[in-house]
Amino acid sequence: MKPIEIMKSVYWVGAVDWNVRDFHGYTTYQGTTYNAFLVIDEKIALLDTVKKPFMVDYMEAIRQIVDPAKIDYIIVNHVEPDHSSCLPDILTIVGPEKIVCSSMGKKALLEHYHQPEWPYEVVESGQDISLGQKTLRFLETRMLHWPDSMFSYLKEDRLLISSDAFGQHWATGERFDDEVDQSELFSHAAKYYANILLPYSSLVGKLLDEVRKIGLDIDMIAPDHGLIWRSHPDKIIEAYDTWGKQKACRKAVIVYDTMWNSTEAMARSVADGLLEKNVRVKLFDLKRNHRSDIMTEILDAKALIFGSPTLNNGMMPTMADMLHYLKGLRPQNKIGAVFGSYGWSGEAVKLMSRALEEMKIEAVEPKITIQYIPTAEDLRDCKQLGRKVGEAIDKAV
Ligand code: FEO
Repeated sequence: MKPIEIMKSVYWVGAVDWNVRDFHGYTTYQGTTYNAFLVIDEKIALLDTVKKPFMVDYMEAIRQIVDPAKIDYIIVNHVEPDHSSCLPDILTIVGPEKIVCSSMGKKALLEHYHQPEWPYEVVESGQDISLGQKTLRFLETRMLHWPDSMFSYLKEDRLLISSDAFGQHWATGERFDDEVDQSELFSHAAKYYANILLPYSSLVGKLLDEVRKIGLDIDMIAPDHGLIWRSHPDKIIEAYDTWGKQKACRKAVIVYDTMWNSTEAMARSVADGLLEKNVRVKLFDLKRNHRSDIMTEILDAKALIFGSPTLNNGMMPTMADMLHYLKGLRPQNKIGAVFGSYGWSGEAVKLMSRALEEMKIEAVEPKITIQYIPTAEDLRDCKQLGRKVGEAIDKAV
């Protein structure tokens, strides 16, 4: 890859992965990038490495700027293998004076690569390392995304290298936010937040408060995935502020699976009731939509409504998968509703209702179950449920 100078003497030297389609359960239909950065100063620092299969691209980019053997410090902002799996091979080429990481970073590196003799340099939040003209300051960001995560901030350039935070899984030829369509960019950023950072939302708020408190002036945010925020760092910070607070709007997401179209007909009637109340509605058939795409829409929705027929005394496997995934992502400030058809036992609605209780999502009554094929009256009841959810949204937002 061709390196890109993103600020004076600071280069993007990452790799573009056009083909990855799954990121631990999250669909990446448009691939991703593994961003890494090279700072040329009296001391040369390499911030982050890349996923092992991309080491050739990465080294080629570095060699266009500097002989890798001249690199003094390797900064490990995050140990997850998409950022560190080529580290052992890189070290044999570079032989750095220091591997700079957080205390949890050192622990994670030892647990991944079992190399106690590496030249670790553990840094704490607020600690600086001078490179000569430029200064690197570190900020621990535990659980954003792993316990080892940290940010690196180049003080003189007001450049925040933010590891996973503010990223997007999106392979592009462009490197900067102002070179791509904004709605597409924010849609990728929202999907990334909803599927990766949502469970740590309370920490996002604390981190943004800390960044304000210590007065970090930020001109550019360079995450380890996707586009670099050159023109709109304020906009992505504002979005994280909103998402971190899990603010919801007048929007409902209906998620369903169906066997013989009865539950689907119910879902459409619930949607009609919501639309009558002027609520924004998104309807997802689990056979046609991936849970990680549904999560993007759940991010700012107030109401989550689930429909499943009963199969073998349970809910449909797709619904169990969706609810299990959702529970792990710990959504807050939502209301819910459940419905479904059945033949002779009808457990699905009770099980979905229990799943909502476990997530502390209060369900609007009634929980509708209908046997076999809904009558016109059953569908009127479903529409009425939609209206009731609409009214409950108005009370809650
Ligand atoms: Fe991009 Fe948590 O790794």
